[in-house]
Amino acid sequence: MVTIAPSILSADFLNLERDIKMMENAGIKLFHMDIMDGNFVPNISYGPMILSQIRKISNVDMDAHLMIVEPNRYFNIYKEIGVKYLTIHSEASTHIERDLQIIRKLGMKSGIALNPATPEENIKYVLEAADMVLVMSVNPGFGGQEFIPSALKKIERVKSIIVNMGLGTKIEVDGGIGKENLKSLIDAGADIIVSGSSLLKGNFKENLEAFHEVINE
Ligand code: DX5
Ligand code: ZN
Repeated sequence: MVTIAPSILSADFLNLERDIKMMENAGIKLFHMDIMDGNFVPNISYGPMILSQIRKISNVDMDAHLMIVEPNRYFNIYKEIGVKYLTIHSEASTHIERDLQIIRKLGMKSGIALNPATPEENIKYVLEAADMVLVMSVNPGFGGQEFIPSALKKIERVKSIIVNMGLGTKIEVDGGIGKENLKSLIDAGADIIVSGSSLLKGNFKENLEAFHEVINE
């Protein structure tokens, strides 16, 4: 079963409640939240305060993608908000195995994210501590960027590492995804598809239906 997780970064922040309700009413089961610190990535987005506000109006599961340095400073706050997935970058954490285990101990699902330049081998020795691998298909920092084709091969390789180790780790892919490349990503092994601009630009319901048509092909 493939999950579509819209990226809240592409929502209308002046009408955030309206957009959250619109996605919820369309049957969305997971919101992808991009948290950027202006240090790990060149952009600053939003943080825990926005997630808490959303939590007040919606019970949809949250998938927090931390694009921040020393992410473990913030684990407790996301646990308190009640996010389901907490994903940290392999490039941002010195002791990532420990960090992934802490996320789990706090009762969240742990995710390890790989930048486009980071080889899939980076997950090998820590994979047992991860519930999800996030393959970035753009350089993190901004919505609306072009898909980097090498991500496809990386997903296939991550999938084979997971299968060879006999694990059930989920694969998420994030960045530059639309109905044109959706199918190839699912065929490569992606379980969770993150999409911002392709879903939220124009008519969300129609865009989502187009995604579902591709998935059900
Ligand atoms: C990029 C973020 C993505 C982004 C996806 O740093 O991690 O989640 O919002 O947006 P689109 O689908 O527009 O590439
Ligand atoms: Zn993201």
